[in-house]
Amino acid sequence: MCGIIGYTGHRPAVPLILEGLHRLEYRGYDSSGVCFVQNKELNVVRAKGKLTALEEKLAGMEISLATTGIGHTRWATHGEPNESNAHPHKSFAGNLSLVHNGIIENYQETKKELLAKGIQFFSDTDSEVLVNAVANELRPGVPLLEAFAAALRKSTGAYAVALLSPDEPNTIYAARHSAPLLLGVGMGENFVASDIPAFLPYTKDVVFLEDGEIVRITPTTWEVFSLATLAPVAKKAQRIQWDMQAAEKGGFRHFMLKEIFEQPSVITNCTASRIQGGSVNVPELAQKPVPSRLRIVACGTSFHAGMWAQPLFEEWAGIPTTVEIASEFRYRNPILEKGEAVLVISQSGETADTLAALRIAREKGCLVLGLCNVVGSSIAREADTVVYTQAGPEISVASTKALCSQMVVLLLMALHWGKAKGTLAPEIMQQAVAGLATLPGQLEETLPNLQTEAKNLAWRFAACKGMLFMGRGQAYPLALEGALKVKELSYIHAEGYASGEMKHGPIALIEPDFPSFILAPHDALFPKNKSNLEEVQARRGPVIALTNPPKPGFELNATHLWIIPEAWGPLGGFLQLAALQMLSYETACHLGNDVDQPRNLAKSVTVE
Ligand code: F6R
Repeated sequence: MCGIIGYTGHRPAVPLILEGLHRLEYRGYDSSGVCFVQNKELNVVRAKGKLTALEEKLAGMEISLATTGIGHTRWATHGEPNESNAHPHKSFAGNLSLVHNGIIENYQETKKELLAKGIQFFSDTDSEVLVNAVANELRPGVPLLEAFAAALRKSTGAYAVALLSPDEPNTIYAARHSAPLLLGVGMGENFVASDIPAFLPYTKDVVFLEDGEIVRITPTTWEVFSLATLAPVAKKAQRIQWDMQAAEKGGFRHFMLKEIFEQPSVITNCTASRIQGGSVNVPELAQKPVPSRLRIVACGTSFHAGMWAQPLFEEWAGIPTTVEIASEFRYRNPILEKGEAVLVISQSGETADTLAALRIAREKGCLVLGLCNVVGSSIAREADTVVYTQAGPEISVASTKALCSQMVVLLLMALHWGKAKGTLAPEIMQQAVAGLATLPGQLEETLPNLQTEAKNLAWRFAACKGMLFMGRGQAYPLALEGALKVKELSYIHAEGYASGEMKHGPIALIEPDFPSFILAPHDALFPKNKSNLEEVQARRGPVIALTNPPKPGFELNATHLWIIPEAWGPLGGFLQLAALQMLSYETACHLGNDVDQPRNLAKSVTVE
């Protein structure tokens, strides 16, 4: 999704804005631009493609005097990704410049009205309409804050916007509605941005903005107002704990690889405050009743986390649990029973479909629990109770450590509720707590071997046209995740399947150059997986079995055995997951793809 940064302070604004835009690159974009105020004039520079194209254009320009500006990375929604559709957009009269993330749904009607008034447009975007709508409200005697608010009140849809005027050369106006925007408070300098890493080198003091708030920043002041009334809103800056290293590659070739390698410490961080004295307690759940039923709603990888955890809620806590894709849930009329809780899972906390599902659940009077990574995100703020996953900033578009953190916290939640209800056998609690204590070390030791093995497999299979991933029980959602990761990073078609479904269709795909990855840990379902594997081999399809060190009764004869250490019960999933993540990573690297920013994808999907 688009990235926004606005800066006003004492430093040269343009290099700082470019640096901030680089830190927002992970959100995905296809064009970029900046607007800076110099000699009381708005200077807009935009370019199609990567930020280097913008940097090349700026290289020969005199920019050193500008200390206020706005910047944008655009992920095309209205109009193709070219220079004229790139942001910032200037008003027709040239007196305002604006960057926008989101979609203004009623822009066509506004455009008609403005065209009738003689306004001309030079792009296909809703954002250019918005900046002209603000200019249209700006009559003599009307302050810019009022004109900006008036135009926003007439706009429907989602937006995070930042606005500049040469008449107030050190001031930035900004507002948000259903799209992320934060304020960074520094010493003699202030920022607005879509995400914290954009300004993290300069300040850790953050003001989380709510929908319906509008802000005005100068180098030494920041003010928040209600969009509806323009009454001041009292807000406090919060000091966040992130450090720069967390948002940098730290010696790794890609953020994705760094984030895969961070998973052992993510597990430790997620469990640290929630396991004490050999027992689990999730403090965020303490004040709420144990739900009689649970509905998990999420998208993509977060949806797989929900699927993975479903049997744990049922077996340990005796809570009937269903898992749904948010974009489906929101467009049917789901029956939610009294006592049923809806648990929405989202790394970003901004996914439009998941947020819409949350709102539906609230309207229906359900208890809404949010499992989020991004502190202060929309889902975190709108849920009745939020449980944070504590994975730290996830920069790579493909989610890895966030899923790991979601799985840990969901497992802890199942233990917490099982204990509260008295349905959990004490030995399960003991084994889980002991297993979670050793898992980070085990994973840390295994990750380098997984990478070596994944590299070999990438060499062998990166040229194939398709791949099949299969698993049963809790390995099934991991098979889906393996296929999703291969698709999004390698652009190789991959299917994730429940092993038992093979003979109902996908077995027809099997041929000698079509690899099947089968997740066959040493569990009760091993014999079933073994016979699926034999079915594939009988049709001369290569099989890579992701399994545990051989022992009597668990023999397998596959084209390739990918041996990973055994862990207690569901914890084995964390090792399988890391193997699949490495496989997709190495395959994408082998193919020379842009690992951290795969094509057509955005990190935070704030539009439908
Ligand atoms: C895949 C991936 C996506 C996200 C999905 C939901 O690697 O990252 O499938 O999981 O877009 O995002 P969140 O969790 O932010 O709601």
